[in-house]
Amino acid sequence: MSTAAWRVRIAAALAVSALTWMSSAPAAEESAAPTEAATTPPEPIAEPEKPKVDVRKLFAMNCSWCHDGYGLHAGKGPKLAGTKMSVEQLYDRIAKGKSGAMPGFAKTLKKEQIDAFVEYIKGLKDPDS
Ligand code: HEC
Repeated sequence: MSTAAWRVRIAAALAVSALTWMSSAPAAEESAAPTEAATTPPEPIAEPEKPKVDVRKLFAMNCSWCHDGYGLHAGKGPKLAGTKMSVEQLYDRIAKGKSGAMPGFAKTLKKEQIDAFVEYIKGLKDPDS
């Protein structure tokens, strides 16, 4: 699958989680707009897709010996949570590595697995901030 197609998939997944989050938030101002709320059918919410990639398992196998705590703490490599890198930079770093510091994973991981790492790292909450 092309990178563009995966971007679309990731965007769709994010949109679904946003919808899920919004629908679980308490309805504010219930009495303020009763007519609209009563007549608008609820948005259908797609079933969350079963993740195809088990990121934590992959992380344990490929990254944990340098990035501690599933990316939450520094080890031989830096803490990944709270990285300033963009999605593209993260993809690039994981695929190509960094000479003398980190191996590249373009040959051992599939594109969808690298994408899953990028999404996972972007979603980490920095425990130190
Ligand atoms: C052999 C040790 C090693 C392994 C294995 C390793 N890394 Fe790294 N990684 C490093 C080091 C060292 C750096 C810092 C490189 C530098 O100087 O910028 C780094 C940097 C990174 C960065 C950039 C973080 C930032 O904000 O600068 C990301 C993202 C990353 N690694 C992800 C991964 C992922 C995902 C895996 C597993 C697929 C992995 N690494 C496996 C050693 C490793």
